[in-house]
Amino acid sequence: MDKAFPKDFLWGGAVTAHQTEGAWNLDGKGPAITDHQTAGSYTSPRIFTRSINDSYYYPTHNAIDFYNRYGQDIALFAEMGFGCYRTSIAWTRIFPNGDDETPNQKGLDFYRRVFEECKRHGIEPLVTLYHFDMPVHLAKKYGGWQSREVVGLFTRYCEVVFNEYRDVVKYWLTFNEINVMTMPFGDALLGKLPEEEESAVMLGDPNIKDDPSQRYQALHHMLLASAGAVDLAHRINPEFRICGMITAIASYPLTPNPDDVLAAQQSMQLGNYLCGDVMVRGAYPRFADKMFEKMGVTIQKLPGDEEILMRGRVDFLSFSYYASGCISASGKGEAGSGNFLLANKNPYLTASEWGWTIDPAGLRYILGELYSHYQIPLMIVENGLGANDVVAPDGAIHDPYRIDYIRRHIQCMREAIEDGVDLMGYLVWGPIDIISASTGEMKKRYGFIHVDLDNEGNGSFARSRKDSFDWYRKVIASNGADLD
Ligand code: BG6
Repeated sequence: MDKAFPKDFLWGGAVTAHQTEGAWNLDGKGPAITDHQTAGSYTSPRIFTRSINDSYYYPTHNAIDFYNRYGQDIALFAEMGFGCYRTSIAWTRIFPNGDDETPNQKGLDFYRRVFEECKRHGIEPLVTLYHFDMPVHLAKKYGGWQSREVVGLFTRYCEVVFNEYRDVVKYWLTFNEINVMTMPFGDALLGKLPEEEESAVMLGDPNIKDDPSQRYQALHHMLLASAGAVDLAHRINPEFRICGMITAIASYPLTPNPDDVLAAQQSMQLGNYLCGDVMVRGAYPRFADKMFEKMGVTIQKLPGDEEILMRGRVDFLSFSYYASGCISASGKGEAGSGNFLLANKNPYLTASEWGWTIDPAGLRYILGELYSHYQIPLMIVENGLGANDVVAPDGAIHDPYRIDYIRRHIQCMREAIEDGVDLMGYLVWGPIDIISASTGEMKKRYGFIHVDLDNEGNGSFARSRKDSFDWYRKVIASNGADLD
């Protein structure tokens, strides 16, 4: 059996602007709501503040200083043989307030330098247009995605960047994990600031205030904005390939009790297929209306919305995958067993130091699920292990657990391709250590490249290669045939 992956398979890594760049208020950049989130930990939530409070440490403000070090970092990605690098554009670097008359030239220039540097090394950028980073001005003025006004402003931003980078970017991604809006996770994901001066943003916190009508209305606006961006991208450059993205909800029934089986099915319908269907098929699925009815949710739609969604069907579907979870009809389960899924732990599986279930076979399962549903190309744009690495006295970082995690996921991905799934690529999350989105920590490290920086922002920012660096280089050089 040939163990290599399909020719042109895209290997690489993925990050965001706010978790890497820093320079949060330099060269004309405006604040995003992600700049208003303090550092937290596994056990204590990040604090989301309405204004910047100087007594707190906000990790995105300097992040890992990619803004100044992108040349060195991209060279390291190239050394590993990356064919693809996913990052996001910070909307507030292009339009500092989100609704400015003209774009910020310094922001446009920065991303041009980054994308050109990638191309010079033979790396295709895959560019996310929105990754939880609503401009603060729009959060204050409109309450983020609750307002339809924001859809128009987002479309304008997309038009500017599509035109600006039409010669250097081919692959685009509209919204990071748009389906997290089907789960009650509070203000930040709606693009709002908290109403009170401070609020805890720990994902899955049962005390989080949730108004499902407001949340699904915001989701409708995001789906319209996503579809509008797809349509615009196709008109601006027919060569563009643009995808939607979900966080894959791989649900197993907790027991063979048919009630649990049905609950697991419903969790995937709501979690994956509601947004997937709108983005891939261009319409809400029939089950959505029934679910909204049961939840008491009414969405305000305007005449013409159906056409916008239909015109904005994506070219491929991408997803993040970290964990699976077990669903029981009798309760929701616990937060923390994965990045977003509220589910019960699986007694057959182990978990990461942050409690995220480790389930490589779940990747094959979800690939099969999504492909049999949509039959369009799929791409894994996030997968990896957050771990607390130890630097040995000689400076080496031995991370066999990371190699083991990624190896097992790649093996299952290969099996899914043998099952018949059309898979375009695989991007490891955080190929260089970055700020954790859920906890704001540095010590939750995903990278092949270590960054000398701690949870409080102390360190030299120096980069060094972990053991996994050479391993991933070999994987890519052999097109996935050599996983040893
Ligand atoms: C995904 C997000 O849900 O999970 C990323 O798209 C995030 O932004 C990633 O970093 C891993 O989560 P965390 O909390 O370990 O950084």
